[in-house]
Amino acid sequence: MIRILGIESTCDETGAAVVEDGCCVRSNVIATQFDLHEKFRGVVPEIASRAHIENILPVIQQSLDACGLNLKDIDAVAVAHRPGLIGSLLIGVTAAKTLAWAIGKPLIAVDHVQAHLYSVLLDREATPDDGAPVFPAVGLVASGGHTAIYRIASWTDIELIGSTIDDAVGEAYDKVAAILGLGYPGGPVLDRLAQSGDPRAVRFPRSMLATDSLDFSFSGLKTSVLYHVRGLPDQPRAFPDPAQVADIAASFQAACVDVIIKKLRRAIGRTGARSVIVGGGVSANSALRGALPALGLPVFLPPLAYCTDNAAMTAGLACVHFLQQHFSTLNLDAITYSQFRKGPKSRNA
Ligand code: KG4
Ligand code: ZN
Repeated sequence: MIRILGIESTCDETGAAVVEDGCCVRSNVIATQFDLHEKFRGVVPEIASRAHIENILPVIQQSLDACGLNLKDIDAVAVAHRPGLIGSLLIGVTAAKTLAWAIGKPLIAVDHVQAHLYSVLLDREATPDDGAPVFPAVGLVASGGHTAIYRIASWTDIELIGSTIDDAVGEAYDKVAAILGLGYPGGPVLDRLAQSGDPRAVRFPRSMLATDSLDFSFSGLKTSVLYHVRGLPDQPRAFPDPAQVADIAASFQAACVDVIIKKLRRAIGRTGARSVIVGGGVSANSALRGALPALGLPVFLPPLAYCTDNAAMTAGLACVHFLQQHFSTLNLDAITYSQFRKGPKSRNA
């Protein structure tokens, strides 16, 4: 049996988890920072990294205590080292290096976005090689920081084939929730509200870009919601009443889901995919979950507990790296969002 301690600190959640054989989650501890960022309606990097410093050791200790284990019971220490906010990443990477060195066990670097895809295997009966998605698969990671489509040949052969050119879909949810005066993060509250609204009430734009493009753009949709709510500068509107807010939420959500489903259909046609894998915070969305079966392929989604950032998915994917003896040195770098977008030359694992 392979037992891995995973650490997550890419953005605003501090997480530690113990996972056995890539699927069996023994513990999964997450310290969220919503209360610290709420009044800014988004993550403030400096505040996030300071909170990670305070949380990281207690969270790691809790993840071990929760399953009655000690560091000596761990076979490897895994950390999400890319992509993320530099100050946040450095806390997790430094903690993981120090622990791995102190207990004399391998250090494993995990790509946070790939871990979101892998999260569909967590808490399953099957091992990663048995009863899992059939490859090639099309993968979608839809979160606060990413909206991207991948061709997945195996858990270690994942090719980016489309991504957002501006806002991520989760970011659009958060900004639209702010426009509507709702809380942060916006996704769960908009999702809930949308259930009592009419998705055809407002026809918001669906930005498809070029006819064969697998890229996304959500900033026009967000601006369109802004104008719909506030009116034009010379024609301001009264703030919508609660029923109208629900209709706007449902109509915005319908536009997001429409675009995502159309792009996934294109990606399936292009890649010959045999299954669809969806991860990231927005994979918790009820309308998206409801629309995916129409793609006509087996769809794999994470349990709700593993949609948003967590360390269980880091420890899970690390098991695949462990089996391939893909270990890192103590020189491992933290890689930010912008370095990550520049491509493989700026990455090291
Ligand atoms: O994966 P995640 O925790 O963080 C990133 O890696 O970015 O995703 C957080 C994002 C937030 O933007 C949040 O609003 C969104 O996921 N989200 C949702 C739902 N639950 C979380 N968006 C739509 N519907 C939901 N039910
Ligand atoms: Zn994430």
